[in-house]
Amino acid sequence: MASVSLSPLFLSFFFFFFSSSSFNNFCNSQQSTTAHDYLQLPLLHKQPFSPSQTLSHDTHRLSLLHSRRRRRRDITLPVVSGASSGSGQYFVDLRIGTPPQRLLLVTDTGSDLVWLTCSACTDCSNREPGSAFLARHSSTFSPYHCYDSACKLVPPPDPNPCNHTRLHSPCRYEYSYSDGSLTAGFFSKETTTLNTSSGTRTQLPNLSFGCAFRVEGPSITGPSFNGAQGVMGLGRGPISFSSQLGRRFGNKFSYCLMDYTLSPSPTSYLRIGGGSPSRVVSNTKFSFTPLQVNDFAPTFYYIGIKSVSVHGAKLPIRPSVWALDESGNGGIVIDSGTTLSFLPEPAYRVILAAFKRNIRLARPANPTPGFDLCVNVSGASRPRLPRMSFKLAGNSVFAPPPSSYFIDTADRIKCLAIQPVESGSGFGVIGNLMQQGFLFEFDRDRSRLGFSRHGCALP
Ligand SMILES: *[C@@H]1O[C@H](CO)[C@@H](O)[C@H](O)[C@H]1NC(C)=O
Ligand SMILES: *[C@@H]1O[C@H](CO)[C@@H](O)[C@H](O)[C@H]1NC(C)=O
Ligand SMILES: *[C@@H]1O[C@H](CO)[C@@H](O)[C@H](O)[C@H]1NC(C)=O
Ligand SMILES: *[C@@H]1O[C@H](CO)[C@@H](O)[C@H](O)[C@H]1NC(C)=O
Repeated sequence: MASVSLSPLFLSFFFFFFSSSSFNNFCNSQQSTTAHDYLQLPLLHKQPFSPSQTLSHDTHRLSLLHSRRRRRRDITLPVVSGASSGSGQYFVDLRIGTPPQRLLLVTDTGSDLVWLTCSACTDCSNREPGSAFLARHSSTFSPYHCYDSACKLVPPPDPNPCNHTRLHSPCRYEYSYSDGSLTAGFFSKETTTLNTSSGTRTQLPNLSFGCAFRVEGPSITGPSFNGAQGVMGLGRGPISFSSQLGRRFGNKFSYCLMDYTLSPSPTSYLRIGGGSPSRVVSNTKFSFTPLQVNDFAPTFYYIGIKSVSVHGAKLPIRPSVWALDESGNGGIVIDSGTTLSFLPEPAYRVILAAFKRNIRLARPANPTPGFDLCVNVSGASRPRLPRMSFKLAGNSVFAPPPSSYFIDTADRIKCLAIQPVESGSGFGVIGNLMQQGFLFEFDRDRSRLGFSRHGCALP
């Protein structure tokens, strides 16, 4: 039996600093080539938690939404939120520094910053390899100066990022998440070594990243972080990994999150770049939906949901329930860093009722905390679970298999892996469980998301 990790903490980060001039400078410094080569990073999945432990994570996740709502009233800018990390996550191996050091990062389409836990040790012989980035062991490590235009791209810990009492004042940053977790340190650049599709090794000289000397909070420390040393933000902002490298490789990225309940676990890849989808995976028929932008939350990849069907019947849900409104509230985000999916409460209620109507399986004797619908599949050799599909903007249909929205919370107990968010203040999330088994391509130049049920098997 596969134990399943539920949603980790669903984080929000507060990022008030958007300077369009520095944004442009930053992007222009990256060469835009139309090479159809791409980078390929194996994705690993880890989830050592037992269901009972993850349930408490999930409860935590729900309380985070409340705190986020409260904060949202206090500040005029809607909170840019959704970065997340923790259990049930997909990780990439990054080689960084000269000589390369190997570190494990959580991949997250819901945040922008790439950061690593750093150590300033000079004699690091007692450090376990991979436990932190050893800045002094790399000949190419260099923090940005606080006056560097790149420094304007990260939120500073206090209004003045420069310390005038120091001659070489590095660019300090502090990046915080909604549960209070934060990473702080020096915004820096490094050489990173990556594999391309043609099998050659490429060195990229200027990866900008946060060299973190302070890492605090439950979601990015301790067991929920699962031994990772940082986060690879893949959001839309200029400092994300995909933004920094994407321009060299066609400004798109794709991934396939394999079903981690399969044994042995298949390998997934994160690809940066690649030509048209047909070049990435031949014989793959893609469906497309436009990616929407929320100016108040520029990190996120929003998609539009038009309707939902359960068991073939379109459900009576007002389309406005799914919409992103003018003040930046609502909408649906596609996030690799969140495990469960979160749908607006009015839609959730209708979906839940439709599942309850269409399920013929026995309910467990006791309710599973945190879930509104669970079934006991002990009696059924091939339990039949209702099919759900989403009609998306652009008239494509996303129809994940039931294993992507029912999870095992105990032996032979499956629960609907969707949670409600209050519409109007929160926003919905298509989490990584729901994305399993599909190849997703985020095409930023064309502002569209391609997805295919066939395309994960290819390396
Ligand atoms: C500024 O630098 C001085 C000297 O290195 C140090 O003592 C002080 O704590 C620094 N201030 C801040 C805000 O980091
Ligand atoms: C690149 O690929 C080779 C062979 O597949 C592998 O041994 C190596 O670890 C990879 N390097 C990186 C940086 O992923
Ligand atoms: C990396 O930075 C160095 C100096 O900061 C600059 O000379 C070089 O052109 C940059 N390279 C790229 C690929 O941006
Ligand atoms: C599930 O059903 C089986 C019998 O079909 C029963 O023995 C078992 O206790 C049930 N489990 C729960 C948690 O209700």
